[in-house]
Amino acid sequence: MATVAVVYSGDDEARQRAAAGEPRYAAVLAELRRQGAEAMPVVYADEVADEVRRQLRGVGAAIVWVDPIHGGGKTRSVLDPLLRDVAAAGVFVSAHPDVILRMGTKQVLYDTREMSWSSGDIRLYRSAEELRAGLRMVAGTRVLKQNRGNGGNGVWRLSPAGGDRVRVLHARRGSREQEMAVGDFVAMCAPYFAGDGQVLDQPFVPPEPAGMVRCYMTLDEVVGFGHQHVTALTGTEPPPPAPRLYYPPEQPEFQDLKARLEREWLPRLRAVLGLDAEALPVIWDADFLPGPVLCEINVSCVSPFPDAALPRLVAATVARAGRR
Ligand SMILES: Nc1ncnc2c1ncn2[C@@H]1O[C@H](COP(=O)(O)OP(=O)(O)O)[C@@H](O)[C@H]1O
Ligand SMILES: [Mg+2]
Repeated sequence: MATVAVVYSGDDEARQRAAAGEPRYAAVLAELRRQGAEAMPVVYADEVADEVRRQLRGVGAAIVWVDPIHGGGKTRSVLDPLLRDVAAAGVFVSAHPDVILRMGTKQVLYDTREMSWSSGDIRLYRSAEELRAGLRMVAGTRVLKQNRGNGGNGVWRLSPAGGDRVRVLHARRGSREQEMAVGDFVAMCAPYFAGDGQVLDQPFVPPEPAGMVRCYMTLDEVVGFGHQHVTALTGTEPPPPAPRLYYPPEQPEFQDLKARLEREWLPRLRAVLGLDAEALPVIWDADFLPGPVLCEINVSCVSPFPDAALPRLVAATVARAGRR
């Protein structure tokens, strides 16, 4: 019988109750068992990485819902080497850190800027100096994004305000637009260049009234959709929290998007990034602004997801685990 680990973050207390099942991932564990796999909850924290490494050595596959960057402060410096090790030992790891790096950072917008899902005119800055030079050349309203982040953290709308001044609005909920000197904005972005950090620069695409569509994927297949009216970066005050609504992959209004993503964009994406089909994660998503224009790809820690995705992502995982 194939063993599949479901890895998520938690403290000591979570580790104590892991065997009893974690409510958030109970449905995943149950579906794994229903499909004939042995489902093993594994609670991850950097402090217990060695123990987790031992737990994962013997499994066929591991689905990883750990995002150290979320919640602030931490990096992936302990988690990633661990995942690379167990993957090298033959465990199917989703998502593999190298796949996250290639598909799941904002750099993917730059790497695929020639594709028809791109707004075009996309720039990537590798240093504060490059950012400053780039901002002198761009016109119109732009969106700048740190390479790795989520929840709108380090995502900024920028509009020229005359001279060397800009108006900036952070995508974090509750932010207000401020005006400042370009130099001050660049200085504020300095932390985004720490290590191998980068900043992506793309045109602002008005998200409303159509809203954003999230395509949930298992390997190379669309397994559901999310649709959300967004307020981030629109300057709407106060931002009314609009829920994301979930739909099955058959939802009629998203069939054109599904067809383009599966048949046109995904083969191109894989070719551009040099990823074979086997490398794709069992659950990931692509976010589209109206156009459709690619907003971002999320590869690490995609949860929640539409109900329709669950049996498909589990089937894909069990198939890989069984090959061990
Ligand atoms: N080019 C863009 N035009 C308009 N709005 C954008 C654009 N890029 C991002 N946004 C808004 O900012 C939010 C956060 O950006 P995103 O790229 O999803 O980064 P993350 O979710 O990793 O913080 C998006 O959900 C969207 O509402
Ligand atoms: Mg996002």
